[in-house]
Amino acid sequence: MPPLALVALISGSGSNLQALIDATIAGAPFRIAAVISNRADAFGLERAQQAGIATEILDHRAFADRESYDRALMTAIDTHAPGLVVLAGFMRILGEAFVHHYQGRLLNIHPSLLPRFKGLDTHRHALEAGVRVHGASVHFVTSELDGGPVIMQGEVAVREEETPETLAARVLQREHILYPLSVQWFAEGRLKLDEGKILLDGQPLARPVVFDYG
Ligand code: GAR
Repeated sequence: MPPLALVALISGSGSNLQALIDATIAGAPFRIAAVISNRADAFGLERAQQAGIATEILDHRAFADRESYDRALMTAIDTHAPGLVVLAGFMRILGEAFVHHYQGRLLNIHPSLLPRFKGLDTHRHALEAGVRVHGASVHFVTSELDGGPVIMQGEVAVREEETPETLAARVLQREHILYPLSVQWFAEGRLKLDEGKILLDGQPLARPVVFDYG
């Protein structure tokens, strides 16, 4: 089987993108056909170029509204005919039409144990809430912000001396394991979205697959 072609959308550092690039180098059954950023200064663009991956900048500020931006983004993505679109720190809300167009082939990674701590500043919110366990989630995207069925989660125990920065760094390390693994499962055809429910190896996934990283 040819490797699954994916397009990654980024806005920033692209460390999750790097984890995906590293997985392809290590022989994962997918290839990154293109990386698209809404910000020209996203460091992830350099990571992609280093790896010989096509890049494109699509600055949302050049568009009148969300619909026209999303339409241009769809056109840019579909040039590469991807089997999967991966949000890798893409910090924009996507409209209904976009999400519907990629239904079942659009993944996101979010730095919290969803459904807790959606949105920004998740690590600070988790510490303020006094949780003992925090982490990251990979999910299929629906039109609800950081919503959609969760595939897998990585748990991280919160330490006594924790700051948002130390917690973010430890969660990010786990993200770099979770995301390539999720994409691999999808590429292998093990993971599907069926009428809004996740199937793993043909069986309904009653709850996310959880990895306890201590
Ligand atoms: C990651 O922590 C990712 O989970 C988060 O942005 C960071 C991007 O880092 N995404 C979200 O918050 C989406 N709601 P990276 O650019 O180094 O991969």
